[in-house]
Amino acid sequence: MLIQGKTVWITGASSGIGEALAKELAILGATLILSARSADKLEQLRSVLPHPERHRIVPLDLASCDSIRAAVTPVLEQGISVDILVNNGGISQRGLARNTCIEVQREVMEVNYFGIICLTQLLLPAIVQNKGMVVTVASVAGKVGGQSMAGYAASKHAIIGYMDCLRAEESQNGLKVLTICPGFVQTQISVNARTDDGQPYGRMAGSIAGGITAHDCACGICNAIEKDKREVVIGKGLSALAPTIKRIWPGLLMTIAARKNIR
Ligand SMILES: NC(=O)c1ccc[n+]([C@@H]2O[C@H](COP(=O)([O-])OP(=O)(O)OC[C@H]3O[C@@H](n4cnc5c(N)ncnc54)[C@H](OP(=O)(O)O)[C@@H]3O)[C@@H](O)[C@H]2O)c1
Repeated sequence: MLIQGKTVWITGASSGIGEALAKELAILGATLILSARSADKLEQLRSVLPHPERHRIVPLDLASCDSIRAAVTPVLEQGISVDILVNNGGISQRGLARNTCIEVQREVMEVNYFGIICLTQLLLPAIVQNKGMVVTVASVAGKVGGQSMAGYAASKHAIIGYMDCLRAEESQNGLKVLTICPGFVQTQISVNARTDDGQPYGRMAGSIAGGITAHDCACGICNAIEKDKREVVIGKGLSALAPTIKRIWPGLLMTIAARKNIR
């Protein structure tokens, strides 16, 4: 799908992959609707994009369907049409399954799963009418499990499953559904990750620091959109190879995962 001239709604635009992707999409000629909770960061981003007057910010909290509905309804009532939704906003979690409190497990699922499906459902009629695309930034963790990420991996497995079903249901209506599975990307994801009791992890993990740049990830996502891909893995090293290893040698991947904490 050609990005130029399209209206793209992107969540998680205040930081990391979403911020880098917003810049690339704007350069490629898209009109953007930028969402996250941090309105100040979104406004700052908007001001540095090409043609800032074309783009709008719509703050919302993915953990609350009420917040999402309240943000989306006025935009739709203004008759603004959306061609591409990029479900990118999300949070991570670091801690053993045996220790992580249920409130953290629920928060991760609210943001990374329920928030996404709520927003997608609200925008779907407009996107289907435009024969547009729903893009979801899931994760390699949505393909393979590992240590210290049970809640995060479960939320990403869930959203990949949901998007596979949406693609099966709506492709005959012209909807394209693209799932992005990044490996490690240099962003604030581990800094903001929830620990066992919900406190932020607060540090850049070594795996994240050694990942690809957010800009490279954003370019990979734009390329996948323009080539009408359905699912792509973007990354380097073991994190990017893991889904292939699991498909061909599942036992080997499980042995590696049990021996090595690759977070
Ligand atoms: N970095 C990696 O290694 C990696 C790998 C695989 C997948 N991913 C996925 O990539 C996506 C983007 O993450 P990132 O790496 O760019 O991390 P990031 O720098 O921490 O950015 C996360 C974004 O999500 C937004 N967000 C978080 N909670 C939200 C909420 N409740 N409501 C609305 N927006 C919320 C944040 O904005 P506010 O705080 O302003 O709300 C921020 O814009 C996530 O879905 C993540 O799971 C990342």
